Amino acid sequence: MSSIGVLGAGTWGMALARMLSNSGHDVTVWSAIGKEIDDLSVTRCHPNLPDMIIPDSIIFTKSIEEVCDQKEIILFAVPSVFVRSTAEKARQYILDSQIIVDVAKGIEPDTLYTMSEVIRDEMQKDGLHENLKIVALSGPTHAEEVVNDMPTTIVSACTDLEVAEKYRMFL
Ligand SMILES: NC(=O)c1ccc[n+]([C@@H]2O[C@H](COP(=O)([O-])OP(=O)(O)OC[C@H]3O[C@@H](n4cnc5c(N)ncnc54)[C@H](O)[C@@H]3O)[C@@H](O)[C@H]2O)c1
Repeated sequence: MSSIGVLGAGTWGMALARMLSNSGHDVTVWSAIGKEIDDLSVTRCHPNLPDMIIPDSIIFTKSIEEVCDQKEIILFAVPSVFVRSTAEKARQYILDSQIIVDVAKGIEPDTLYTMSEVIRDEMQKDGLHENLKIVALSGPTHAEEVVNDMPTTIVSACTDLEVAEKYRMFL
């Protein structure tokens, strides 16, 4: 079992956090919005996923340092427009030994980078994280289906095939 830090408490971040927690992983969720963390930790319910009960085992934090600390996997699940700023905030707390898993989709308008490329670009500023492994997970999956435990498929992609194969399994 793995320890996983989830960046983003929107519908996709929370649907995956619930699924990963129910699969036995240790899951901590961070959001840039403090009130969201306060509400989720008390109500254990997401306003846009009313059918989902958030497992008690999921830890919520407002600290991006805490969500990154000692985690094997850092899951980027913020909306695409916030991927770069979130990577910038997280950079100083990420180690090359951690695996970044990106589930945010899209292309950055100015650079035409994919979200994985945006994360790598931001992480490698200051000459850091030369050896960081980034896995992109994407496919015909949707939060509303995942919270209802419906079967679905997802593609795991990484420049290191072994890493791609290993981390498709963590779901
Ligand atoms: N929802 C899905 O079913 C689904 C499926 C596959 C991929 N994705 C991808 O996952 C990503 C997230 O999608 P979503 O549906 O969870 O979006 P969402 O609109 O539900 O996300 C909203 C969340 O974004 C976070 N946020 C808000 N402001 C922020 C800020 N300034 N900085 C950092 N985070 C901030 C907050 O946690 C907020 O709850 C997108 O790139 C989307 O394409 C979503």
